[in-house]
Amino acid sequence: MKQRPFRAARGPLSLALLATLSAGVLSGGAAIALDQQAGTAHPALWPQLRSPLKPDPKLEARIDALLARMSPEEKVGQVVQADIASVTPDDLKTYRLGSILAGGSSDPGGQYNAPASAWLALADDFYAASMDTSGGKYNAIPVIFGVDAVHGHNNVVGATLFPHNIGLGATHDPALMGQIAQATAAEMRATGIDWTFAPTLAVPQDDRWGRTYEGYSENPDVVRAYAGPLIQGLQGKPGSKDFLKGAHVVATAKHFLADGGTFEGRDQGDARIDEATLRDVHGAGYPPALKAGVQAVMVSFSSWNGVKMSGNASLLDAVLKQRMGFDGFVVSDWNGHASVPGGSRENCVPAFVAGVDMIMAPDTWKGCYEHLLAAEKGHALPAGRLDEAVRRILRVKFRAGMFEAGKPSTRGVAGRFDLLGSAEHRAIARRAVRESLVLLKNNGGVLPLDPRAKLLVAGDGADDMMMQSGGWTLSWQGTGLKPEDFPHAQTIAAALREQVARAGGQVELAADGHYTHKPDAAVVVFGETPYAEFQGDLKVLAYRPGDDRDLKLLRKLKAEGIPVVAVFLSGRPLWMNREINAADAFVAAWLPGSEGGGVADVLLRDAAGKVQHDFRGTLSYSWPRTAVQTPLNVGQPGYDPQFAYGYGLTYAKPASVPALSEDAGMDLASLGAQTFFERGTPATGWTLRVQSVVGKPRTLSQPSGQRDAPDVAIAPVDYKAQEDAWKITWKQAGEIALLAPRPLDLVRETNGNVMLRVTLRVDAAPSQPGAELFLECGPGCSASLPIDTALAQAPRGTWGTLGIPLKCFAARNAQMGQVTAPLGWRMPAGTVLSVHEVGLGTEAQHVLDCAVK
Ligand code: BGC
Ligand code: BGC
Repeated sequence: MKQRPFRAARGPLSLALLATLSAGVLSGGAAIALDQQAGTAHPALWPQLRSPLKPDPKLEARIDALLARMSPEEKVGQVVQADIASVTPDDLKTYRLGSILAGGSSDPGGQYNAPASAWLALADDFYAASMDTSGGKYNAIPVIFGVDAVHGHNNVVGATLFPHNIGLGATHDPALMGQIAQATAAEMRATGIDWTFAPTLAVPQDDRWGRTYEGYSENPDVVRAYAGPLIQGLQGKPGSKDFLKGAHVVATAKHFLADGGTFEGRDQGDARIDEATLRDVHGAGYPPALKAGVQAVMVSFSSWNGVKMSGNASLLDAVLKQRMGFDGFVVSDWNGHASVPGGSRENCVPAFVAGVDMIMAPDTWKGCYEHLLAAEKGHALPAGRLDEAVRRILRVKFRAGMFEAGKPSTRGVAGRFDLLGSAEHRAIARRAVRESLVLLKNNGGVLPLDPRAKLLVAGDGADDMMMQSGGWTLSWQGTGLKPEDFPHAQTIAAALREQVARAGGQVELAADGHYTHKPDAAVVVFGETPYAEFQGDLKVLAYRPGDDRDLKLLRKLKAEGIPVVAVFLSGRPLWMNREINAADAFVAAWLPGSEGGGVADVLLRDAAGKVQHDFRGTLSYSWPRTAVQTPLNVGQPGYDPQFAYGYGLTYAKPASVPALSEDAGMDLASLGAQTFFERGTPATGWTLRVQSVVGKPRTLSQPSGQRDAPDVAIAPVDYKAQEDAWKITWKQAGEIALLAPRPLDLVRETNGNVMLRVTLRVDAAPSQPGAELFLECGPGCSASLPIDTALAQAPRGTWGTLGIPLKCFAARNAQMGQVTAPLGWRMPAGTVLSVHEVGLGTEAQHVLDCAVK
């Protein structure tokens, strides 16, 4: 897509001037003054830094000697990283890949809950393959294994789950970051993993971004203060004996750069900002990370002024490596190379040329390897580029002592599975939870609660480890998990119950708020359901528009005269003034992770009636006054939040919060109903019912675990971004219906010629007839449309939009005022469809002809 010239903060540049700048006519001082040149950085504007690790001639000589023995094939192998779901140890023996990763949904044996021992065994297997020289044919170069340990060692069952970064930002406690990082590294090493893709140094500026919770704060000062302790906690001190070794790992500063600065908070979008903002806001964490000796930097998927970061040599090479003296290696993000002009999923050469040293090519590694090798052999790579990249990777491996360390299971704390969720680490996490809670409201001093009283614990988040942990927990999206997947964890309800029982009080747990004994007070725990990356992007900053379930619960309890404490689990601040008004006390608890005890420690007095722990957390993100107040960041002109950056009440200094305006700044009811399934995820509250002639009916909100279903199999596939569509394979005849959280009134839309609009690809049409679309409208009410002809005529394997006029269903006697499932597919065996989006619209490429015959 062509980028429109962006408007710089100081006013728009003329097209002619842009053209002049792009042609590189200006240089030196003149160029520095004109920092708006789209997407090209000026190194002189950036801090000049030096690595804290002095050049080590002995180490460089070892690299020289090894490089001299390596074939082009081995060198290319070093710079390619594959995902364990798509590579085997045998592949490694042949292709000599330098690195593997386990993505958020990739696990040993494909088992999301694989035990720690399986991780360690897998690490050993890949290591052994990398050290196997095939009888001297190859050099033995240890493979480096990376994972996203972003809130603890979160891919492994039983690990301590620390609060996600948004909660840690609220603690304003850099020293605590060091302890958390150290504990995380130790748990990783226990399972044989060398490298984490953390910390995220994003400075999110628009909380609609689905990754807001991965950032510590909207304020660069917080990120700047945290970066050093985090890197040192993970890696150890540069120059010390156990730097990158023992109970330490290699860390990654990510995502370079301005991942949190994209337009409208769009994940993987474009940051339209000037170079000073790029450096001072989004770059704030990098100088301290580099000074602490960070060994890897991950490139952002996003763009700066229309130029993809993964292809931006001015930032990767000239700024990061040259000007800021970064001497580790640059790794790209998950197939990020495909988005660089001239690149594709198979071709990673342009990203490599721009300065990415290691290409994260999870499932595309073979194509990437082949393209790079051909380019190297055909002299199409800049002279010395391959050697430079390999040198950087080998430097880190030597520094980490990997050549001498032996197999992962023999290193340092490897095999110490008792470290996973150890009492010591859980205590650090629990403290972090306590410090992360932000008290927005405590009218009438409802908190702290007396543990000797009768408490009702309600809300669907009260006893739910998934909601408590968020994305990047055992699976990429943090969904599809069971209570037994969290052996060392405690839900908030369980923690409240434990402390109350100890003090002699009573807890009644009822998610829906229906109690048997009238309680003295109610704690209602509710919030966002888990998401990761773009699947969490929002259009407006409101909590569940169109779904008042939690609000009703709060209001019901309050109407019954019960003091209500709201505990809100979320990855970001959201407009929810109605809920705040409906509660006497309101606690922003973020995504606290495994230690629900930290919440109970602050909400409850001790048995003697004394405060156990006061609130210490204050907002590291501004809380919006309306749903449309975006972007909203401290220090910006016109800053007028509902609760400002730094806000947070305490028991020591009580204050009363007046009723807040319930004007969202827009008609929230108009939202929500328009899109039912978007970019591979059902809209909030929506689910899919799958039913076949053989299997058990089931309801899902995400595809995990359905890949191998014997009847109707569902697997995530890529359309415009990773996993933004579902591929549905009818192995047996069956149906899938998209269920609304509550009946929809589509009468107005039906009369107004609105269509159901489906973005899909027909991968295979059935050979037997009987394919139908249907709509459901309550018990005994449904209407079906045959689509055999349309399916047979649809082009195979190409994406398109299909419009299904709502009138088609109305004409078949559907009750359009109470639609419970606006769309279902009833298909014969052999049908394969990929679906990206389902919603309402007025235009589509193909419109279904549904004349009633
Ligand atoms: C994410 C990164 C992550 C990588 C590997 C990407 O999709 O953007 O943050 O490190 O996947 O899982
Ligand atoms: C994530 C990976 C995840 C993958 C799913 C990526 O965007 O970052 O960690 O496993 O998508 O295929």
